[in-house]
Amino acid sequence: MRDELLELTSALKNQIISEKESRNGLYSKLYIKGTSGALASAPVNAAANSKVDHISSVTLEDIEKELGDCKRCKLHDKRHHIVFGEGSPIADLVFVGEAPGRDEDMQGKPFVGRAGQLLTDIIKAMGVGRKDVYICNILKCRPPENRNPEPDEIAACEPFLIKQLEAIQPRVICAMGKFAAQTLLKTGTAISTLRGRFHSYHGIKLMPTYHPAYLLRNPGAKKQVWQDVQIIMEELKQKPKSGV
Ligand code: URA
Repeated sequence: MRDELLELTSALKNQIISEKESRNGLYSKLYIKGTSGALASAPVNAAANSKVDHISSVTLEDIEKELGDCKRCKLHDKRHHIVFGEGSPIADLVFVGEAPGRDEDMQGKPFVGRAGQLLTDIIKAMGVGRKDVYICNILKCRPPENRNPEPDEIAACEPFLIKQLEAIQPRVICAMGKFAAQTLLKTGTAISTLRGRFHSYHGIKLMPTYHPAYLLRNPGAKKQVWQDVQIIMEELKQKPKSGV
């Protein structure tokens, strides 16, 4: 019994240490894990642990500047605007969708079409506004006819999302839809199985839920999204743990 307790304590300690390390080196770890070489020399923020000592050496403006008039993948050809993302640079909560649609491509802003209106309503129902959270996508350019993002497009774009998350250091990420959840979690598991509980995205709590566009087609699923959102709200009510 004593040995089992010791083993458990040691496993817990290791888990806490590894989560802290993940938080401290999110970009470097994610970068090493599987993105292309173009950003190898980008600065790494190893400092920020919590909102209190949030010191990011790379700002969202720096990242947007580095992205520039991006032509790293074929999607640049037909896009009207790059949709970088918008909201608070120190948001506790980041929403990640799939890719800009027609409205977003025309306006250069994420989630401004019909699905976007529903997302705005969800955010309001949480008691906050769009300016208090950060909203972005896996891809920053619209795929033609809103087709699914392709692997080379993700490979070109994901390093920038990783850097954005590193700069913001949110407490919770809400991955909206199968595509965002599966891409961030590197899994093929169905969204219906993933949703409803937190997963770890390199030490950050990640809640997969249904995409607002799916809710427009399947309003019955709003109940589950609301359940997921309530779990997020409960988590954000907790005081941030310093150093984790
Ligand atoms: N759908 C998405 O996934 N992202 C947007 O920005 C708009 C619609």
